[in-house]
Amino acid sequence: AHSAFSTKICHYGAESLREAALLIRAGEPVAVPTETVYGLAADATDSNAVAAIYSAKGRPSFNPLIVHVADRAMAESLAHFSPQAAKLADRFWPGALTLVLPAQDDSGLSPLVMAGLPTVAIRLPAHPAMRALIRESGRPLAAPSANRSGSISPTRAEHVLASLNGKIRMILDEGPTSEGLESTIAAPRADGIRLLRPGPVTAAMLEEASGLPVVAGKADAAIEAPGQMASHYAPSKPVRLHALKAEKDEYLIGFGLMPCHFNLSPDTDLHEAAAQLFTALHLADASAASRIAVAPIPEEGIGVAINDRLRRAAA
Ligand code: TXA
Ligand code: MG
Repeated sequence: AHSAFSTKICHYGAESLREAALLIRAGEPVAVPTETVYGLAADATDSNAVAAIYSAKGRPSFNPLIVHVADRAMAESLAHFSPQAAKLADRFWPGALTLVLPAQDDSGLSPLVMAGLPTVAIRLPAHPAMRALIRESGRPLAAPSANRSGSISPTRAEHVLASLNGKIRMILDEGPTSEGLESTIAAPRADGIRLLRPGPVTAAMLEEASGLPVVAGKADAAIEAPGQMASHYAPSKPVRLHALKAEKDEYLIGFGLMPCHFNLSPDTDLHEAAAQLFTALHLADASAASRIAVAPIPEEGIGVAINDRLRRAAA
């Protein structure tokens, strides 16, 4: 049995970055912001470090993790890029797109990261803190969202602390994340792009950039994205979707002009709504109300990813 750590929140800067990189080199996971959500990062080449992510999160089974890289050369040392994959990376990296690609035999990645699959999920994030941590530690970093397994993803350092206090040593704080939803996950193929998780990079954007059809990866999702369980991102309270007004005991998360407890975007800006979504769910979960209701969100652009997360929260 481990004694509990005390978890410290450190403002992102040169000194905290050095300290975080030392923790990574020592095999400890560190919470760090990306432009999507805060990640719980550890050395992807060290099985003990990767196992420490699973144990801090209380993740029940070994789902494969996303490996974060600082540049394209690092990505190409880990995975094989087909012409389709290269096209998508050229267009959307750095950014909120994760590519599932065949792993290189000599990648050096811990087998735990891929959970036995021949493929690896790779992302080159845009956020300076995550990029600097990869560079400073000199390692590709495995990083799932920095929250207890199955709970709401963190878009602020306080969310990480509320979920993982005593389980990790350090949180690098660089304010709220700009995108607010986890990255899009796509598996490029010669004849089309399989969309395994909707996110900030939409199907229309992938189609336009690749010139290939985008098909939902739902059919054999069990193989391609084993971590995509129906009841992910779940608050502790029941969630009702498509609500037009609050019923008794409900905390209403609104969209557009309507009376509500928290408005995702009074101007019906879907990017703003995505950035606010998990903050709203965290507040609703912590409120005195016993149930949560959410207004309808248009199924267009990043609204597709918002609705994906909401369906999982309600499942
Ligand atoms: O925005 C994000 O992607 C955040 C930040 C921290 O980068 N990370 C994140 O990681 O959401 P995580 O572990 O919560 O989600 C990883 C997803 C899981 O659904 C997992 O099943 C899928 O990626 N995945 C990982 N490797 C895979 C692979 N080889 N094939 C298919 N799916 C894979
Ligand atoms: Mg997660």
